[in-house]
Amino acid sequence: MIPGPVPGPSRWAEAPGDGPDGAASAFPRFPSVARMYDYFLGGKDNYAADRAMADKALDRAPVVARLAQVNRGFLERAATVLAESGLRQFVDVGCGLPARRNVGDIVRRVEPSCRIAYVDNDPLVLVHARALLAGGAGTGAFGGDVRVPAALLGHPGLRRLIDFGRPVALLLLGVLDFVADADDPRGIVRTLLDGLPAGSHMVITHTERTAELAALAATARRAGLAFTPRGRGEIAEICAPLEPVGPYPAALPLADAAGAAGPLPLVGCIGRKPG
Ligand SMILES: C[S@@+](CC[C@H](N)C(=O)[O-])C[C@H]1O[C@@H](n2cnc3c(N)ncnc32)[C@H](O)[C@@H]1O
Repeated sequence: MIPGPVPGPSRWAEAPGDGPDGAASAFPRFPSVARMYDYFLGGKDNYAADRAMADKALDRAPVVARLAQVNRGFLERAATVLAESGLRQFVDVGCGLPARRNVGDIVRRVEPSCRIAYVDNDPLVLVHARALLAGGAGTGAFGGDVRVPAALLGHPGLRRLIDFGRPVALLLLGVLDFVADADDPRGIVRTLLDGLPAGSHMVITHTERTAELAALAATARRAGLAFTPRGRGEIAEICAPLEPVGPYPAALPLADAAGAAGPLPLVGCIGRKPG
């Protein structure tokens, strides 16, 4: 069964009467994950509904702002490591709104010929990604839902851009946290991995369930956002089909432990498709 869209993204005010003068409002009435994340990162592509929910999230769990920053830092490190080790094709699933530095900016510092496919199920993300990220050769932005992994990998535009005869780096950062258990995140990772050629790699980050993040998840669910932090063991099972690269999976941050207050409830994993 093909699941419906994740509740939350881009449920724009469509009913007449929503706007100040009785016309339909141009602003979204409901928060979206992508725009809240943009707010946590200090971006400008968010609206009142997003900021209100994001501020509520910060009240419940102040750690989320740091989780967003550290997650982005790990994305940079992992993408750089993979580009330096020879990967030339990147599929960024759940790419989010364009940030200060995006996967293309990061990996093309290592090798300008890298190809990048940005994928998200939020139509607004795609509008921004197409405008800002996917203009040049070797880059594309495609609609896709990670809960339907075979269809995602089968997207005709994606397959024109990415050569599935050569290794691919598939990035799943901060996205499986929005996949419910019923949608089988472990099965999703296995299906995606099966669809990738030999030599491919995957990067995953996932928030760990703590008391405050569990409370936040309950609040988020009431707002229609399917946030699902998981236990360390459950995250390890999701990453299990991968052959770990370096010290991963591990709680983040690792490199800047000297200055940090300790590991965050965020697990990062870099792994390769087992040969
Ligand atoms: C927290 S943001 C992470 C953005 C980026 N990957 C990063 O780590 O910086 C989560 C993104 O995943 C997207 N997303 C959520 N559920 C998704 C799904 N089922 N399929 C594809 N994208 C999804 C959201 O729209 C949002 O852009």
